[in-house]
Amino acid sequence: MRILVVGKGGREHALVRALAESPEPPELFCFPGSDAIFELAQPVPASGLESLLEWMPSHAIDLCIAGEESYLVTGEGLANGCAKAGIPCWGPPKESAQLEASKEFAKGFLLRNGIPTARATACGTFDEALATIADEYPTVLKFDGLAAGKGVAVCPDAASAREFLEEVLVRRRFGAGRVLVEQCLTGPEVSVFAAIVDETYLIFTPARDYKRIGDGDCGPNTGGMGAVASRQLVSPETLSRIETEIVQPTVAGLCREGLPYRGFLYFGIMLTPSGPQVIEYNCRFGDPECQAVMPLVRGDLAGFCLAGAQGQLRRDLLAFDDGWSVCVILASAGYPNSAHSGERIAGLGTAGSARIYHAGTRQTAAGDWETHGGRVLAVVASAVTRAEAVAQAHAAADLIHFEGLQRRRDIGILHFT
Ligand code: AMP
Ligand code: GLY
Repeated sequence: MRILVVGKGGREHALVRALAESPEPPELFCFPGSDAIFELAQPVPASGLESLLEWMPSHAIDLCIAGEESYLVTGEGLANGCAKAGIPCWGPPKESAQLEASKEFAKGFLLRNGIPTARATACGTFDEALATIADEYPTVLKFDGLAAGKGVAVCPDAASAREFLEEVLVRRRFGAGRVLVEQCLTGPEVSVFAAIVDETYLIFTPARDYKRIGDGDCGPNTGGMGAVASRQLVSPETLSRIETEIVQPTVAGLCREGLPYRGFLYFGIMLTPSGPQVIEYNCRFGDPECQAVMPLVRGDLAGFCLAGAQGQLRRDLLAFDDGWSVCVILASAGYPNSAHSGERIAGLGTAGSARIYHAGTRQTAAGDWETHGGRVLAVVASAVTRAEAVAQAHAAADLIHFEGLQRRRDIGILHFT
């Protein structure tokens, strides 16, 4: 089987590794990929979506897997293009990927389908948004479109709300688009992933990411400084509520509204005092949650994704370990405001049983690895207990060094239930 994975980060490195470990290892390709991914998957000589869609049929690709979201909604859409070329795609078409690309679309979908979520009003101007907030703080403001993780602000007061609205609705930092003024919810967050095949689904191991840069959840938001994954992250009662109140009505809603879906769907959920509520959908796996979840997945991921893309949910092909997995991110100096590239990375060969996924690295002509981006590496360990997984992941991370390395020491330790 010849599989093409689309993306270039730590999530895609983890996906490619998991696919390579399938019982009948597929021939792997990756676009745009990275030097580390190219140790397992061949690079594709494409320059963008259009040339990628031309390349696939002439190179007998059997399955395309969408790692990152952007190509799903670029141009004609990755899955739409694959469908035209007759190539099965694990990832939804453009019209369904609006669940991630437009927060207004997602909110409408949630409300129409009676799925618990925060109240929200879409506003087109600064004055309209301020009037809608009506001095009720904290408030949550969300730009409607894709904004590389920078489109959401939880504002404690009028000054921070004005600053965000000014930037987004007056200076148009992210271009045209409205802002959702949303009720602020409270409670621990959990990321739930389902593989969806038309009207059927399979829920993967739940995870939680650590979004802020500093220990104790302090400092600015990042793309994620670590993650923990385990079935035990949420109680069986809560997981069952998430399934019946959120996952099932989402899958039924997609079918009812004629939104085709074959691929991973990420439910960003807040466990509020009145029950689980959806704060966002993403039409892909999470990053860095994927790096934490994949080591717990057993079986034939390649066969599972191919069958899914062809319309068959093969639950029998996968199983999930009961234990815990902890993922520690090593970031470069300056992250999340900037990234420092070109620092030599030492200690990569010494991780023992931990897995190392590359997010932002580059290999020099001499074969050394150096930093190449904000988030550099993910160090992941899994074990029967959370304490063991924490100890192993942090011990393995201790062995890796580069100038300016930033990392949280409380990943997997700071724990919310
Ligand atoms: P999003 O990009 O929608 O995932 O939002 C980023 C982060 O903002 C989430 O992970 C939450 O921590 C926070 N957030 C989003 N919506 C809400 C809400 N309604 N209430 C409180 N926090 C929120
Ligand atoms: N970890 C958050 C995300 O993948 O969007």
